Amino acid sequence: MRAVEALGLRHDGERLWILDQTALPAREVWLEAGPPDLMVEHIQRLRVRGAPLIGVAAALSLAWHAEQSVGAGAVRDSAVRLRAARPTAVNLMLAVDRVMRAAGPAFDVDALIGEAYAIFDEDVNLCQAMAARGVSLVAEGEGILTHCNTGGLATAGIGTALGVIRRAHELGRRIHVYVDETRPLLQGARLTAWELGRLGIPYTLLADGMAPILMRDGRITRIFVGADRIARNGDLANKVGTYAVAVAARHHAVPFHPVAPWTTVDLSCPDGGHIPIEQRASEEVRGARGSFGAVEWSPSDAPVFNPAFDVTPAHLVSALVLDCGVVAADALARGELARLIGQPV
Ligand code: MRU
Repeated sequence: MRAVEALGLRHDGERLWILDQTALPAREVWLEAGPPDLMVEHIQRLRVRGAPLIGVAAALSLAWHAEQSVGAGAVRDSAVRLRAARPTAVNLMLAVDRVMRAAGPAFDVDALIGEAYAIFDEDVNLCQAMAARGVSLVAEGEGILTHCNTGGLATAGIGTALGVIRRAHELGRRIHVYVDETRPLLQGARLTAWELGRLGIPYTLLADGMAPILMRDGRITRIFVGADRIARNGDLANKVGTYAVAVAARHHAVPFHPVAPWTTVDLSCPDGGHIPIEQRASEEVRGARGSFGAVEWSPSDAPVFNPAFDVTPAHLVSALVLDCGVVAADALARGELARLIGQPV
């Protein structure tokens, strides 16, 4: 197989590896990830995460599996398990379906492997296209808020929302990034801060809930977030906390822009009420686990509500940034999304 490398995933030609995102930023640990059941575990434990990257990772794991000459039945069974590893990000289901469809009824292993690499390459290009579109919205000297991690660790390329931010920095727009820590699993504090530091992009880390004050004071002037599934009407699921950011943004008249590739749009899903939302373990909210070990700060039987994602209604979106276009709120309301998708770059 061909060697490929992204920030959070690489194939050395023989073996598939993921960078363990639960160990970052303290340690950079690469874990083997070729066998699909191993990949399912990595995805569920968020060692590999982010909507586009879990699709790419699942596709490459199936390609690795198919190359072991295990036969069509075994690969098909693995596809079912990978597809169900996490329920919200539609990129995962789309990527698995694409590689299995490419194999066809005759189970053409070369075609399956070729499609997995095509998905990797395509994601790299989609990130570039989103960055090019999104950066046109950014003015000189803006303070930009982002939530969760949407960068190189979440995609095969430069990222979705963080890719736009990165391009704005590269173009010398003198931006400052405000990073929500993103409770409960701290993807902002651990991963986005790590990525921005590596890139030399100035940032300030915020406790969740601080951002509205900075919107009020005019220090946050624009918001870019990612998405895990965008329904036909423009409602979108993203990391829990995104809805609160969007509500505060509307109150303070700060432009709110989700950024996503067409692979995150699910036209078969009519609206946000139909997006399946992953519920995660109570321990993630009762305490934390990290390079420091594990800590529990609430009563160990405290009842917990821990959805991994929330849904932001389309009417709170100022403009949606896709690889294939920027869709303003009024165009979203007219159903423009369905016309644009189908015409990916
Ligand atoms: O649970 P995670 O860390 O996989 O959630 C990730 C997000 O919510 C991202 O914002 C989303 O996948 C967009 S990433 C390009």
